[in-house]
Amino acid sequence: MLIFESHAHYDDEQFDEDRDEILSALPKSGIEYVVNVSSNPESVKSTLKLAAEHDFIYAAVGIHPSDVEGLPEDTLDWVREQLKAPKVVAVGEIGLDYYWDWEEEVQDLQKVWFRRQLGLAREANLPVIIHSRDAAKETMDIMVEEDAGSIGGVVHCYSYSPEMAMDYVKMGMFIGIGGVVTFKNAKKLKETAAAVPLENIVIETDCPYLAPEPNRGKRNSSLNLPYVISAIAEIKGITEEEVAQATYDNAKRLYRIE
Ligand code: NI
Repeated sequence: MLIFESHAHYDDEQFDEDRDEILSALPKSGIEYVVNVSSNPESVKSTLKLAAEHDFIYAAVGIHPSDVEGLPEDTLDWVREQLKAPKVVAVGEIGLDYYWDWEEEVQDLQKVWFRRQLGLAREANLPVIIHSRDAAKETMDIMVEEDAGSIGGVVHCYSYSPEMAMDYVKMGMFIGIGGVVTFKNAKKLKETAAAVPLENIVIETDCPYLAPEPNRGKRNSSLNLPYVISAIAEIKGITEEEVAQATYDNAKRLYRIE
């Protein structure tokens, strides 16, 4: 069973102690590809370094909505330049995060950066990785206004309604499903996993966060992806092999890896 991890943060400080050990265990465990996703200028650098050091790691370059405050004036140009580095397969993660009580001014700045980076992705002909939390309508409005479907990409760690997931699918987007799908109380996400066609689903950990059952609450890693695969297989009434193979093919299509 070969697995494509579509969203991880192995540059996170939670991996400082044993990063090499974990990364070297992944290919042996069937984790064939990992896309490491950045969120601010510092993690762009560490993500590109990981991609340069490991054959199986690819990079996503972008500014996370929670990191848009206080950036130097030239950051957008700097990000544009980093997109030209080897093994960059996406712009991300970008979007809106209204979970925290941001001032309206910051919410507006998030929107500015979201639109700007959709523009960068279009220019560079790269798909986007969308992060959206507690901002369902605002995110969808911008995606429609900016015609993001023609750019392509994934709504990662999808957390809204099954109906909205289908709107994203119709737009041509992939839906990223991770550890939350294994949680007993994750009714909405289970319904989403049932509703979205298998060919539009990619799997992810978002590690070190959001470890699936039975490891909920612990530090997450791509080694937990079989639990996500198993949950989706059960929901859809198909085999784990089918889920692994389809999500592997889907992620290669999403990130345009030959
Ligand atoms: Ni993430």
